[in-house]
Amino acid sequence: MTTDLVPVALGARSYEVRIGAGLIERAGAEIAPLLRRKRVAVITDDTVASHHLLSLAEALEAQGIAMVALSIPPGEGSKGWEQYARCSEWLLEQKIERRDVVIAFGGGVVGDLVGFACATLRRGVRFVQIPTTLLAQVDSSVGGKTGINTAQGKNLIGAFHQPSLVLADIAVLNTLEPRDFLAGYGEVVKYGLLGDAAFFDWLEINGPAMAAGDMGLRQYAVKRSVEMKAGIVSRDETEEGERALLNLGHTFCHALEKATGYSSRLLHGEGVAIGCALAFELSQRMGLCSQEAPSRVRAHLKAMGTKVDLADIPGDLLDAAGLLALMGQDKKVVDGKLRFILARGIGQAFVADDVPGDLVTAVLTDALRGRS
Ligand SMILES: NC(=O)c1ccc[n+]([C@@H]2O[C@H](COP(=O)([O-])OP(=O)(O)OC[C@H]3O[C@@H](n4cnc5c(N)ncnc54)[C@H](O)[C@@H]3O)[C@@H](O)[C@H]2O)c1
Repeated sequence: MTTDLVPVALGARSYEVRIGAGLIERAGAEIAPLLRRKRVAVITDDTVASHHLLSLAEALEAQGIAMVALSIPPGEGSKGWEQYARCSEWLLEQKIERRDVVIAFGGGVVGDLVGFACATLRRGVRFVQIPTTLLAQVDSSVGGKTGINTAQGKNLIGAFHQPSLVLADIAVLNTLEPRDFLAGYGEVVKYGLLGDAAFFDWLEINGPAMAAGDMGLRQYAVKRSVEMKAGIVSRDETEEGERALLNLGHTFCHALEKATGYSSRLLHGEGVAIGCALAFELSQRMGLCSQEAPSRVRAHLKAMGTKVDLADIPGDLLDAAGLLALMGQDKKVVDGKLRFILARGIGQAFVADDVPGDLVTAVLTDALRGRS
């Protein structure tokens, strides 16, 4: 299978996303041109290390590149101060200098954490993303948003720090747990919903075979998602406008993640899928889109077997007022007003700055009713 190349055009900070099967086995050759000395530091998590670190080490060694590696515990709990300090101090102990390259080898947690450590280490060290989850390949490894969570909420400490290269090896998705794969699918669907109705049509037809393991379909879905993200990021790197569309479903998602304590009760991508369904419901109630649109979104997510309703979240949840209050903590609040990404139809998202709170409460109340 061929490798697809998607450029992220950002002037002096431009880079390429390479997408294909077997890229990890070729990682040494892919990364070598970036190196000023033949040594890299890799940070990964224990699960990714157990499946794939040996392949990466061999690929680097084949090009005479020395590797030091640190593995952190898997999961969202690692995206915080403790592992940030640990990674930063380890990189200093390893004498990583500004001209060196660090490799973030893992899902969105590793990518965000290591990217942020690189943004602040010696005021900025280059890094390469080798994303290993579907979510990280289609979303978090591209665009330079890095950061960690704090007690106050998700991603509240962070920096824009673009990678120098992204290597998305489709073959590593084969070792993902089905639940993690489907969580990433929430972000894939998001691209169709926010700006490409034809891609959503394609997903309705091809999504099930893609989830079942068809590599050609996976490569196309990752490529189309990355093309969309790269286009948006190159037009609006720091989210002054259009980039906010990538937050479709995220205001709901962040409140739900907070309400479930960032636990395995709700994975980020699952929250995005539920959030997208709620955003379309809200859009329909505001008379912005047809009744058919939210039904189609929900039907497709259900057909894929991902979470789509609040009833799919196990355990207790807050009531509608409680969830609304959590949305007020979201950093996407502009001047105290709640901001949502709404849609005039599938593929037609836009930023709405003044959404009536009572409608949001009504949508949440009805969605919570489905749980009882
Ligand atoms: N920076 C951004 O623009 C951006 C965008 C979207 C999401 N995010 C962030 O991404 C994070 C979620 O990322 P995620 O869903 O990748 O979670 P994750 O990094 O926790 O990975 C999910 C699980 O899959 C395991 N795993 C990873 N690759 C594997 C593989 N190839 N085989 C087997 N297991 C594997 C991990 O060990 C982990 O247990 C959240 O913190 C979210 O905020 C960031």
